[in-house]
Amino acid sequence: MNERGTGDAVLSCRNLGKCYEQGPESVAVLSGLNLELYPGQRVAIVGSSGSGKSTLLNLLGGLDTPSEGSVWLAGEELSALNEKARGLLRNRALGFVYQFHHLLAEFTALENVCMPLLIGTTPIAEAQRKASELLTRVGLGHRLEHKPSELSGGERQRVAIARALANSPALVLLDEPTGNLDQHTAQGIQELMLELSNSVRTAFLVVTHDPQLAAQMDMTLRLEGGRLVVA
Ligand SMILES: Nc1ncnc2c1ncn2[C@@H]1O[C@H](COP(=O)(O)OP(=O)(O)O)[C@@H](O)[C@H]1O
Ligand SMILES: [Mg+2]
Repeated sequence: MNERGTGDAVLSCRNLGKCYEQGPESVAVLSGLNLELYPGQRVAIVGSSGSGKSTLLNLLGGLDTPSEGSVWLAGEELSALNEKARGLLRNRALGFVYQFHHLLAEFTALENVCMPLLIGTTPIAEAQRKASELLTRVGLGHRLEHKPSELSGGERQRVAIARALANSPALVLLDEPTGNLDQHTAQGIQELMLELSNSVRTAFLVVTHDPQLAAQMDMTLRLEGGRLVVA
């Protein structure tokens, strides 16, 4: 890896560290962490609760800043960008799926999926066409006008996945996407993710407690002592 990260990696980080200041104390959560992810690669991250998985995804997605080290997303070093440029890069290159869907309550499924496209300045008719196509692909073609409160937990996660894929990002980060679902629904979401990841060039980095989901990724890494090790 050179000082610009790794040439064709969609994501790379080097010597990544994060400390939280807790009053007079500084708690080191991540330290000396390295990772490279290539187009289309699917990686699971496992690790005990509190080991720093969400902290890591937030740093990789530019939602939080590292105490040490650098992150390159689609060839750009996040810390070298100002807030606006980082936001634009995130919108273009990244999708996020969380344990709790984080959909906008006042908007329909279609509008929620349109949002990243409209922020990315896709014309509205084109955004609606693409959002509707994606929602159909995740099995929700008949739920376009429903608001999040009118959808089941599994349906909301399907909308969140469609939204994450709206701009055909280089990378989707998923933080326990099935953690809040019953086993049967989780299974359906898993199958959907795998099917989608087979048909797009998007890389997937998924934090999960589910050994079955982890086993279906190309590689599983364990977060342990602030670093990633091959599980
Ligand atoms: N904003 C914060 N301020 C202080 N400590 C935090 C903050 N966020 C997380 N932590 C601490 O960092 C550690 C890792 O948290 P987290 O990344 O959420 O772990 P995981 O997702 O693996 O369960 C935990 O000990 C947690 O208490
Ligand atoms: Mg977490």
